[in-house]
Amino acid sequence: MSTLIKSLAGLGLGAALTLTAGTAMASGSGCGTFTNADGVDEHLACSTAPIDFTNKGSLQNGAKIFMNYCAGCHSAKYVRHSRIAKDLEIPPELVEKYLMVTTDQIGDHITAEIDPEIQASWFGAAPPDLSLETRLRGDDWVYTYLLSFYEDPSRPWGANNLVLANAAMPHVLHNMQEELSQEEFESEVGDLVNFMAWMGEPARHDRQVIGFFVILFLLVLLIPVYLLNKEFWKDVK
Ligand code: HEC
Repeated sequence: MSTLIKSLAGLGLGAALTLTAGTAMASGSGCGTFTNADGVDEHLACSTAPIDFTNKGSLQNGAKIFMNYCAGCHSAKYVRHSRIAKDLEIPPELVEKYLMVTTDQIGDHITAEIDPEIQASWFGAAPPDLSLETRLRGDDWVYTYLLSFYEDPSRPWGANNLVLANAAMPHVLHNMQEELSQEEFESEVGDLVNFMAWMGEPARHDRQVIGFFVILFLLVLLIPVYLLNKEFWKDVK
């Protein structure tokens, strides 16, 4: 009996997972097209970003990577350093020492180190603010984009991108990619995108947990409401 229940539960879970994967793919517009060696256009499927807001270690590592590799050019103007300290459970002294590269006030938002207007003249495009980037493009798009830089001597910075053809952004994680194995590199980029997803909606995890309990509460409430309904109509019918 219990094995039957287990396999039924397994089936249900499997179906639910396929369903979520299906919707995730359907909602995104994919991750671009590229021309393969035979000159045929191929569709690039997005890789799934490992998003887990309960993994504080991953979020902290992501914050470190973001501040060291991205905040030089990109701002994240809706995110305060103090919020990073609080939500990611990093002592404020450590945030001040290691993460605040562009300001000395912990209440400040994340600003880019280099003026975006000057950058526009360097790169031909100003680096966009990244606070809401994962909301705009989707977690999986950003993850796949960051994993899809490749060498291309015809580009001004020697790199191109499969997801965003002729991207103006240089391959800023090049050294990291050289030093790590592919698996380690993907894990670092995963942490970075996890952090970016947190920036886009810090309350996402709480919202999902609260949502679950609200639905559970409504389902439980259904039982007395149903019985009450039966009781009320008993004499009328
Ligand atoms: C040297 C400056 C520079 C650095 C450092 C940099 N970027 Fe960029 N980034 C740019 C520029 C310029 C663009 C605009 C690219 C374009 O429109 O082609 C861009 C575009 C992007 C985009 C695409 C935006 C969109 O929706 O089209 C993402 C995502 C992004 N950057 C993420 C990052 C992340 C994450 C990091 C840190 C690992 C980073 N960038 C570091 C300059 C930079």
